[in-house]
Amino acid sequence: AGLLALIALAAYLLGSVPFGVLVTRAMGLGDVRSIGSGNIGATNVLRTGSKKAAAATLLLDGGKGAVAVLAARAVAGEDAVQLAGLAAFLGHLFPVWLGFKGGKGVATFLGTLLALAFPVGLAACAIWLLTAVVSRISSLSALVAALGAPVVAAFVGHGSAVAMILTMAALIFVKHAPNIRRLMAGTEPRIGRKKEGAA
Ligand code: G3P
Repeated sequence: AGLLALIALAAYLLGSVPFGVLVTRAMGLGDVRSIGSGNIGATNVLRTGSKKAAAATLLLDGGKGAVAVLAARAVAGEDAVQLAGLAAFLGHLFPVWLGFKGGKGVATFLGTLLALAFPVGLAACAIWLLTAVVSRISSLSALVAALGAPVVAAFVGHGSAVAMILTMAALIFVKHAPNIRRLMAGTEPRIGRKKEGAA
């Protein structure tokens, strides 16, 4: 139990590293929290106009979820991976460094899933991408992928991960409340467009 607690803490701390803030600051793009939606994720980093910064944020935020899961698997085996993935995800959403005001979790969700249950992660990425190609809306793509992932998990033999994936999906919906309001009002911006007002 001591080892699992340690793994959860380490995964939380890794997940709480706000790469969107660090990358934009390091590249001299200012504070991403003061533009667009105010979110620290890759979608909002793209609103700085830097595709490079957005790609780096996506890979690093996704990578930290994957690394948390892979490290837990190496150290403590399969019993620890769900806990580590969830802890990293919660770290991204509620980072101690930013007064617990973190991101919406989409990249970390995808990275965690790829390491946890590769076919499920792949399917979630594919659903995100397909929805994005059709709609050009990042938040909508995230919501559809969050809905699809637990369903895929149940059908491809990862039933034991469904509860954990559902937990992440539910939190993604909670964190996207302002996006859902904008989607329903028809005012959610397309990918790469600047949006007015922070939410
Ligand atoms: O990854 C978050 C995305 O789904 C929405 O981001 O900045 O448009 O609220 P944003």
